[in-house]
Amino acid sequence: MAGYTNRLRVLFVSSEIFPLAKTGGLADVCSSLPIALTREGDIDMMLMMPGYDSVFEVIRDWDEIAVLPDLPGGPARLLLGTMPDSDLQIVLLDQPQAFRRPGGLYIDEHGKEWADNAQRFAALCHAAVELAMGRVLPYWRADIIHCNDWHTALIPVLLSAQPGRRPRTIFTLHNLAYQGLCPAELLGQLGLPESCFSFDGPEYFGQISFLKGGLVFADKLTTVSPSYAKEIASAEFGMGLEGVLARRKADLVGILNGIDDTVWNPRIDPALPGCYGADDLANKSECKAALQRDWGLETDIGAPLLVFAARLEAQKMADILLEILPELMARPRLQIAMIGQGAHDLQVGFAAASAQTPGRIAARIAYREDWAHQLLAAGDILLHGARFEPCGLTPMYAMRYGAVPIVRAVGGLKDSVTAVDEASLATGRASGFQFQAATAAGLLDAIDHALSLFSQRENWRKIQQAGMRKDFSWHRPTAQYRQLYDELAAVA
Ligand code: GLC
Repeated sequence: MAGYTNRLRVLFVSSEIFPLAKTGGLADVCSSLPIALTREGDIDMMLMMPGYDSVFEVIRDWDEIAVLPDLPGGPARLLLGTMPDSDLQIVLLDQPQAFRRPGGLYIDEHGKEWADNAQRFAALCHAAVELAMGRVLPYWRADIIHCNDWHTALIPVLLSAQPGRRPRTIFTLHNLAYQGLCPAELLGQLGLPESCFSFDGPEYFGQISFLKGGLVFADKLTTVSPSYAKEIASAEFGMGLEGVLARRKADLVGILNGIDDTVWNPRIDPALPGCYGADDLANKSECKAALQRDWGLETDIGAPLLVFAARLEAQKMADILLEILPELMARPRLQIAMIGQGAHDLQVGFAAASAQTPGRIAARIAYREDWAHQLLAAGDILLHGARFEPCGLTPMYAMRYGAVPIVRAVGGLKDSVTAVDEASLATGRASGFQFQAATAAGLLDAIDHALSLFSQRENWRKIQQAGMRKDFSWHRPTAQYRQLYDELAAVA
């Protein structure tokens, strides 16, 4: 039975894990990383997340392994199941009053944050500590807990108050913009001791910051690209936590995310009308023709098709894209196809632009996994603006699919896209376009640069193929995580 071996035992906790629940890249990484870690290293891995409705739609067999009567937000059960298409075990926090509601994972049907988000994710953290300390499964206690983003950031804080031998912790920052801030009065409800409410804990300008707690108490910190790791030490990108991060500099490393090559692979993708690879791109045109037909764009296979697939929010510069749409329509034959949900005014704006410009702009105000695959397969260019970007998976997926990305030169985008310039073109390394200024002019210049190369068929093909052949596998990143795990275990 699992646990009776000497293998390293890792509890990997996240608020979202693909394909069980997803709002963004966090979910993709929190399935593909633990799967790759288990495959490449000898690890006894256990996943943990909340039991949203969508999870029960995917996994139907669960065993109750514990009843926890006193969590923040009320009683809950822990359920043990197995991930689809793998033998990874997963523990679910089943607290229906907190997690089984209509609406999103973090927001209600009207886009408002759930008022009890702090209690919901504090419950997840308490439950994770119980499991990791060996108080749930008699045969399983964790050597290491791998926490992800603010929802799990109280785990290191709570552990620090546990007597005796405790698991070591690693905290991965996927996005510093979401911090889990709540009023200090909630301290008791969240099950936090008064003593932790200090400068050396989750206290942040008189409030409780989950994220700060994790940054202070975790044994090791990682973030999802080397460039973002550097950027967040500055006031421009540190989101008010640059001071805390500077103090933890020696324990912080940037590890560029990989991608799941079975889910994102145009050679075998079941969502596509035709499969293709770097050596044979013929079917990519078929994907484009199908999308033009199905999404009501003009049938024009030679027209440059620009695609966008991201949350409609300022981080992704969606506001600037909306602003420049009229100007983009002045570019001959240019077509735009996009998906995404987010800020209400942006949703309305893109829907209106699409209705006013049929045949040239197709906007679907929703996120669907199969649409994302079809867009990248059909697209010539992916537009991925960003005011900041910890890693940015969509441009990596796009490169895999031969959609050449235009990205802002920040964070993981800088690390994953090799910018087109004379030298990189000549050596066949160029895989996309980078721009500096987060402005309409910056974006337009980059789009014009891309369009000028698009008309040079041979160069364009070289850029596409360089992107398709880039190594975004988890091989290298998992070795880096494994090294951190081993360092932690060695001093446990
Ligand atoms: C967050 C970040 C994104 C990153 C993803 C996975 O969604 O915003 O940049 O790629 O997490 O780590």
